[in-house]
Amino acid sequence: MPSVDHTTPPFAERIAELLARLSLDEKIGQLQQVAGAGGHVSDDLARAVREGRVGSVINEVHAPTVNALQWIAVHESRHGIPLLIGRDVIHGFATVFPIPLGQAASWNPDVVERGARIAAREAAACGVNWTFAPMIDIGRDPRWGRVAEGYGEDPYLTATLAAAAVRGFQTHDLTAPDAIAACAKHFVGYGASESGRDYNSTNIAPRELRDVHLPPFAAAVQAGVASVMTSFSDLDGIPASANRDLLTGVLRDTWGFDGLVVSDWDSIRQLAVHGLTADEWGSAREAALAGVDMEMASTTYAAHLAELVRSGHVPLAQVDAMVSNVLRLKFRLGLFERPFTEPASFPVAGNDAHLDAAYASACESIVLLTNTQREHEYLLPLAAGALQRVAVIGPLADDPYEQLGTWIFDGDAQHSRTVLQALRHTLPDSVQIEVAPGVPNTRSHDESGFADAVRAAERAEVAILVLGEESILSGEAHCRADVSLPGAQERLVEAVLATGTPVVLVIMAGRALALERIAHRVHALLYAWHPGSLGGPAIVDLLFGVVAPSARLPVTLPRVTGQIPIYYAQKHTGKPATPETVVSIHDIHPRAPQLSIGNTSFHLDVDPAPLFPFGYGLTYTWVEYDAPSVQHAEVALTGTVELSATITNRGARAADEVVQLYVRDLVGSVTRPVRELKGFQRVHLAPGERRTVHFSLPVSALAFHGRDLTLAVEPGRFHAWVAPHAAAGTFVEFSVCA
Ligand code: NOJ
Repeated sequence: MPSVDHTTPPFAERIAELLARLSLDEKIGQLQQVAGAGGHVSDDLARAVREGRVGSVINEVHAPTVNALQWIAVHESRHGIPLLIGRDVIHGFATVFPIPLGQAASWNPDVVERGARIAAREAAACGVNWTFAPMIDIGRDPRWGRVAEGYGEDPYLTATLAAAAVRGFQTHDLTAPDAIAACAKHFVGYGASESGRDYNSTNIAPRELRDVHLPPFAAAVQAGVASVMTSFSDLDGIPASANRDLLTGVLRDTWGFDGLVVSDWDSIRQLAVHGLTADEWGSAREAALAGVDMEMASTTYAAHLAELVRSGHVPLAQVDAMVSNVLRLKFRLGLFERPFTEPASFPVAGNDAHLDAAYASACESIVLLTNTQREHEYLLPLAAGALQRVAVIGPLADDPYEQLGTWIFDGDAQHSRTVLQALRHTLPDSVQIEVAPGVPNTRSHDESGFADAVRAAERAEVAILVLGEESILSGEAHCRADVSLPGAQERLVEAVLATGTPVVLVIMAGRALALERIAHRVHALLYAWHPGSLGGPAIVDLLFGVVAPSARLPVTLPRVTGQIPIYYAQKHTGKPATPETVVSIHDIHPRAPQLSIGNTSFHLDVDPAPLFPFGYGLTYTWVEYDAPSVQHAEVALTGTVELSATITNRGARAADEVVQLYVRDLVGSVTRPVRELKGFQRVHLAPGERRTVHFSLPVSALAFHGRDLTLAVEPGRFHAWVAPHAAAGTFVEFSVCA
């Protein structure tokens, strides 16, 4: 894939020429992003654009309005500078793909790239030339509603998918009519919001920041991402929009980023609300000096930057650099040459090809977590021919809107196909489908619908329950202190289980839910996230084996909320829990004496293992892993570790197996995670097929920030696993020699 054109010389001249003509106020105008009026050009906005007080418009997707605004910018303003048109195109536009967390479960960069490509095309038709995606915050706390928007808990997986999303939105040619600028957000550490409460403070140790939270952004920059958005959060006391060390030091000086840095909505004004500054004057100054080029929504630059320059508090050169970053993106997008959109030249949004892609993406995103055996047969896949009556239960079984997930401003629920619709389409007419929502919505405690659900289950050979969370229970500002199934849904599961009818539970949710009380009691469990427009057919085709499940968890599933944060790449601690040392709260007799000898790290009231580990997911076959081997047990610092493992499909069905490479650095100058993902491959295996999977791992990929915070590989012993998930497999040892 050719890299994005970063050749600055032609732009440098054009930027310099423009800068020389712009007044200070016009320069500051380029730094302002304002909201559109929604489908028409308001007088105020027209005037502001005409007078050069606007560099970008957010949230205007009505193509004629966008074109009218561009016309004013290009033909009626003094310098004819086109506008950046920004929009949150997060997991699709009219066609909605699975939420990003769901797409991450595909462990397939092509899924992410294809989804972003189609989203870009549909958005560009409306005149959008800039999306605020991908969100690549590491999400290790599912209480935080925004985990839905990211790619999960792991820096390597997130970095890989971040690059794929950037390629999908931008292509290799940002000037293409259907390419839009991507935005890596939120820089940085927002996912660590304390207690999973949105906008909350973060306290990330410097090493963790560098080893865990920054790498996805580095990967996005490497992939040529056009812009970066600052986070709302503060990190160790410094709100992101004022963090010069990170915005200028790391992003620009160390990584060489020459794209655009945009604030989050109102986040510059909020510097004063944080208590970092006394007023908007101070906020504008802090943000400008830190390196925030464009201000989203608030107007502190417009109000104060000119005076800050005149009074010497912000150098003019800094403003020129900020404006240059804005103009450079406009040149990169080819907006001066092609400011208008021609909707008629684009494929219709929500067309069959786009919906087919959403279907394929959903199929690869839905994780099979349990599938019990009954009379020597697994419950799934269901055999349509053997069924006479099916009960379809749950508030999410037939809700075209709620399956779409968070951030679907432009999502069109008319394209949605629900589980119930897909069942009706798939099952022969001879099969009776009895529908009973059970509860009016996922949060309701109203049990008056239970009786109908139980009756339907009693009469059926299988009960398909579609439960979880409505879209609005995750996403920005929608955090939960308790991540179990909301409302009366667990009780509904119990009631249906009591009928003795086999139960397939399908979960639609924007986060990892804590399902300990029911996960292993239902007969099959499918984790569908919010699967998007074509979630229904994807789920039904997985249930009936038209498609084989291949997705894997991009996050650890906790048993109970109190285990959070629980993620696979934990430290070993000095007192790791072992099966022999773990005791239950019920085993402790009254007045038991306090002892510390032999105690280890666990909670008294929950099994220390997660409910399902990171990387976990079943297929409709059984793949056996032989122990991995390493070609050379000693490798030089400049070398490559050659690892392989043979895997065999022992079942009668084909599988797409996600083979995962994990490494542990046994001794470091600082403590190291018990495992770190370093690679993965999707491998197709025919029934009975045996295949050796190779990984070439450059030793440089073992680098981490050591005691002195410099990035280096420390020679010594390592363990490597080639395994189906983060809690499985046997290791092979190798050493890195100095
Ligand atoms: C606030 C959100 O934090 C950010 O992710 C989003 O892109 C902006 N609002 C614009 O809608």
